[in-house]
Amino acid sequence: MKFPAETSQPQQQAPQAAVPPPPPRLLQAGEVLSYVQAVYERIYVNPVWVRRLDRNSVVRALLFLNDRRMMKAYLDKIKPAGKVWMLAHVYGDLVKQVAAKVGPAGQLWLCDATPIQVARAKSKLAHAPQAGVWHADAACFSPPGAPDLICSFFLLHEVPEEKKREIVDNVLRHLSAHGGEALFVDYHNPSWWQPVRYILLAVNRWLEPFSGALWKNAISSYASHPDDFVWEKRTLFANVYQMVTVRRKPD
Ligand SMILES: C[S@@+](CC[C@H](N)C(=O)[O-])C[C@H]1O[C@@H](n2cnc3c(N)ncnc32)[C@H](O)[C@@H]1O
Repeated sequence: MKFPAETSQPQQQAPQAAVPPPPPRLLQAGEVLSYVQAVYERIYVNPVWVRRLDRNSVVRALLFLNDRRMMKAYLDKIKPAGKVWMLAHVYGDLVKQVAAKVGPAGQLWLCDATPIQVARAKSKLAHAPQAGVWHADAACFSPPGAPDLICSFFLLHEVPEEKKREIVDNVLRHLSAHGGEALFVDYHNPSWWQPVRYILLAVNRWLEPFSGALWKNAISSYASHPDDFVWEKRTLFANVYQMVTVRRKPD
């Protein structure tokens, strides 16, 4: 008698994980990651400020009016009934737009490392049963299904270098050779003649200590095995921003 594994059919190799997964890091109720508490307490943790800042007009101003076109590029990648993993909450109504775009037959899995941000996202998505929100670190979260789109929207520039590496590797680990795309939208190295460059230099110096690294380092440089993937980068607004798409190379 032959057991299924002994048939003469060529055996399918289970896809190898590119990088061994880190030990799961479950965030405790109320836990805030130390760099978020130390650097971003006012904008992401303090409830008074969070309430003031969580609006489209703030995102619009912070992104020098480029918010809509970058969000559109993200939303255009989402198919109806798509499965999307979003790495962090974003102020304004982007999470609602993503939930609407996947529709009732799709799935939106959203994680965020800060309890109050999780609560904001949950209340924005209360009407959308296709959306689930977790209090988790994007560096070691695993969504409950296989995403066909993973989006990091302005998260990487806010995390320390080691965390950038962990997040990029964790995202790539969830891309399959048979499909699935990651989209990183973030800061880049602005052209010398772009006046915003000099505003951002000051902002990075005083408020965003982890952002300047993205001016020097390609996002692919944070991956442990970049050559296993196809990377496509597009910049906009005189190189102030980058949108990087990544797919795993076929086996
Ligand atoms: C997406 S980023 C910046 C987005 C943009 N500045 C905005 O308009 O909201 C901000 C979010 O990242 C979250 N965050 C920071 N580190 C994280 C991590 N390791 N995993 C998941 N979320 C994280 C913060 O709690 C915050 O809600």
